[in-house]
Amino acid sequence: MRAEERTFVAIKPDGVQRGLIGDIVKRFETKGYKVTALKMLQVTDAQAKAHYAEHEGKPFYPRLIRYIQSGPIVAMVVEGYNAVAGVRHLMGSTDPDKAEVGTIRADYAQVMEYNVVHGSDSVESAEREIAIYFNENEIFDERKCMSELVTEYLDAD
Ligand code: RTP
Ligand code: MG
Repeated sequence: MRAEERTFVAIKPDGVQRGLIGDIVKRFETKGYKVTALKMLQVTDAQAKAHYAEHEGKPFYPRLIRYIQSGPIVAMVVEGYNAVAGVRHLMGSTDPDKAEVGTIRADYAQVMEYNVVHGSDSVESAEREIAIYFNENEIFDERKCMSELVTEYLDAD
């Protein structure tokens, strides 16, 4: 069943350093998803460890931790129908070489180790990851539409 979901997205340090923030955020916005939280931050040791707990002990783990802390990331909460799977579909496969053309990783990355974006792999992971990077009061899911704003403005006269 389709449901409104929220997911955690990060533009990894390579994406930020390469000036891709705008292009990547645009992909999610033009799809129609709502960006309900967004901030740039330096990932702490504790955040990196918590985020990638499932990969601890794997050969690539030390490099992954170094990579995610190699510069600021842009962390986001993205909301929409089936947003968890949908965001991962827009991002493409982990390995940019195998990602479908038109996806973020195929279009902007060359190797798996520097694949520019992260997206949660399940609703449960999303909630866990959102809590690592955001307080609930940093997430804004109420939006007024333009006509509502204009009406309020006119009524105030
Ligand atoms: P992500 O968590 O970043 O959205 O990526 P994913 O689900 O597609 O891939 P995952 O298996 O969770 O791996 C997390 C990140 O670790 C790096 N990685 N390197 N060298 C390797 O074999 C290897 N495998 C994974 C990638 O940066 C991947 O995005
Ligand atoms: Mg993953």
